[in-house]
Amino acid sequence: MLKKDRTDFSAKPNPLNGRVRLISGNWKMNHTHLEAIAALQKLSFLLKPSDFNFAEISIHAPFTDIRSLQLLIETDRMPFSLGAQNCFFESRGAFTGEISPVMLARLSVKYVIVGHSERRDLFHETDDDVRRKVLAVLENGMLPILCVGESFAEREAGDRDRVIDRQVATAVAALTPERARSVVFAYEPKWAIGSGLAATLEDAIEGAHAIRGVVERLHDLETAAAVRVQYGGSVTSANAREFLTASEVDGLLVGGASLDPDSFARVIQA
Ligand code: PGA
Repeated sequence: MLKKDRTDFSAKPNPLNGRVRLISGNWKMNHTHLEAIAALQKLSFLLKPSDFNFAEISIHAPFTDIRSLQLLIETDRMPFSLGAQNCFFESRGAFTGEISPVMLARLSVKYVIVGHSERRDLFHETDDDVRRKVLAVLENGMLPILCVGESFAEREAGDRDRVIDRQVATAVAALTPERARSVVFAYEPKWAIGSGLAATLEDAIEGAHAIRGVVERLHDLETAAAVRVQYGGSVTSANAREFLTASEVDGLLVGGASLDPDSFARVIQA
């Protein structure tokens, strides 16, 4: 197969707000390193150079896949950004089983998902753990994708904005405005994740407003206008386009629909 040199193609800012959209594929605990290589090669083949002008595309594979994907991206000059799904907040030491942000930075990882609801709920990550991880990612020159969002019960109780406020404020209150500006937020209502029940466009816009409102209160309007907010939760090629029509939504965090390259390419091209 001919290698396509696509290093000149980089995402252009959205003319409506100056922010560069980011579409992220979160593979969760799927794909061995061999499957990951095959999936990224196929995705690269399916996408046209112009697809990379609309949005930056990041791939969040399991830790064991990252070195393989780094080499593939560099060797074939693929315009994907490398991502991770989590990391620990300490740089090194006696923390059996953890992966440090220093290790990820050395693999040219650009984005690290932090505080995904599966980490919060299944692995008991607290808001304070998430705060420390956000800081560690930034201190190592990478960008956190900070996931926030309410459960169904919290939504029913009218607590969505309070939950978003607590999660955002704990994580970013102590950051400098410069650092706060480089945080990417993902509004991911828990009830929409993996459920097939995506939020409405209105929900996604309200979630993004709530996040920017907290950032504005803690920092300033300029910072709030600079941060990017993705929507995540049951995104498919059938609903992706609608979310991206709103200038408040700066991209998508895609789980299930990112696993199969055909389906993720359709989301990106939607
Ligand atoms: P989903 O997952 O697209 O499968 O709902 C989204 C996520 O967990 O980030």
